Amino acid sequence: MKKKLNKDQFEVPLFEALLSHARRDVVSFHCPGHKNGRSIDKELKNYTGEGIYKFDVTVFNEVDSLHDPVGAIKKAQYLMAQAYGVKRSLFLVNGTSVGNMAMFLAACEPGDSIIVSRNSHKSVMAGIIMSGVWPIWIQPRIDQKLDLVFNTTYDQIKEALDKYPEAKAVFITSPTYNGIVTELSKIVDLCHKKGKVILIDEAHGAHLHFNRQLPESAVEAGADMCVQSTHKILSALSQCSVLHFNSMLIDFNKVKKIVSMLQTTSPNYLMLATIDLARRQVFLQGKKKFDRVIEAAEWGRSYISKNIALMKCFGRQDIQKLGFDLDVTKLTINITKTGLSGYEIENILTRDYNIQLDYADLFNLIAIMGEGSNKTDVEVFVKALEDISKKYHGKQKNWILKIPSLATEMVMKPREVFLSNSTKRVSIKKAVGHIAAQILTPYPPGIPVLIPGERITKEICDYLMDMSKDIRISGQETEMLKTVKIFTN
Ligand SMILES: Cc1ncc(COP(=O)(O)O)c(C=O)c1O
Repeated sequence: MKKKLNKDQFEVPLFEALLSHARRDVVSFHCPGHKNGRSIDKELKNYTGEGIYKFDVTVFNEVDSLHDPVGAIKKAQYLMAQAYGVKRSLFLVNGTSVGNMAMFLAACEPGDSIIVSRNSHKSVMAGIIMSGVWPIWIQPRIDQKLDLVFNTTYDQIKEALDKYPEAKAVFITSPTYNGIVTELSKIVDLCHKKGKVILIDEAHGAHLHFNRQLPESAVEAGADMCVQSTHKILSALSQCSVLHFNSMLIDFNKVKKIVSMLQTTSPNYLMLATIDLARRQVFLQGKKKFDRVIEAAEWGRSYISKNIALMKCFGRQDIQKLGFDLDVTKLTINITKTGLSGYEIENILTRDYNIQLDYADLFNLIAIMGEGSNKTDVEVFVKALEDISKKYHGKQKNWILKIPSLATEMVMKPREVFLSNSTKRVSIKKAVGHIAAQILTPYPPGIPVLIPGERITKEICDYLMDMSKDIRISGQETEMLKTVKIFTN
């Protein structure tokens, strides 16, 4: 473990407060209406048991308030900050999505410009629209040998900062969905040397801080703020995330107010308790647990390379040679040689092998491992892949992972276009030269090619027409992508 064992970290104040409340069988005259689970549907209760519903309470002194914490939640957030070595941590109940929005609103004023890596989650666009900033996009490179989108590099950020010295902040995502971690310390140092705020979406990296075999995390690198989905890799329930604050450049009270503005006033306390418990678990057992997950993932990677000729996985060394690092707990399996798409293999895995993946596209399958993963899961998975590669033979396709040049003019702020009613739909061909009024993101590679406020180029339109033959484009409003929304003045 990277942190010295701290006895405080054995405590789980919020979980304990809820447990003590649940055990007292209090007569409830508070929300929610199910009254300690009494009126929860029987079929559901038969499956889940009754106990968890006693944790579903509302704000009162014993369990504290998420919006104005003075007791158990305050202590639990303090222990979270201590575990990650940051100044403050805030619990989130609408995932990293809400954390990303909050970071934009807290770090920037309307009209500021911010350098943003283009392969960002859709909540980043929401943050840009809500905050009224000018995004300066960095287009990540694509590797057509690995069929992979790289992370943003130090050089790309340096170039952007040199070209746009007025930028107030930099926003990047690390690790990427495939587990690719960029040169965080170098990027953070550069930003701070230039007086810029650095914000990191670390949705997939809440575990990195607790195992030395894993790449550097955003908190270790010294990011001003980062957000982690505690539910993605650690053991908290879905929707649970944490915003870590470690800045000299931003006012924490502003961050707190914004986070409070964006979150429900009825947070689910069962969810909040799992954030508290997940922190204790990863602090005390993260090294051991992730040693095992890493071993299982590496075993799976090596099994695939040795035994499944039509599939391949890149490893940490392959990625390090390219200047990045890899969270090896993520398994990306390239399946292009099978002649099947990742979607087809994903369906076969679900239908015939009872295995569910997090993501698949034309080229790759992504198996996300978490604190609860074990070697047996990986064995079942790779044996299923081996079986599939023997049973199914598709026709070799000539799909190529590509993206047009997105170095186009940002004519209006995304917020202005988003809030405007002066829009209409035109055929893709007729959109050339107009200002985009919608987001369109082909998967793969998951990089938006149209952003509200940007000038639409012929290259982008040709690309959209070509791609829409094979894949569904996120943001398209009809079965086939035939039109795009433009701004009309
Ligand atoms: C990189 C990245 N950022 C943010 C999010 C949103 O996280 P959450 O689901 O916790 O809101 C995701 C979700 O998949 C993601 O992959």
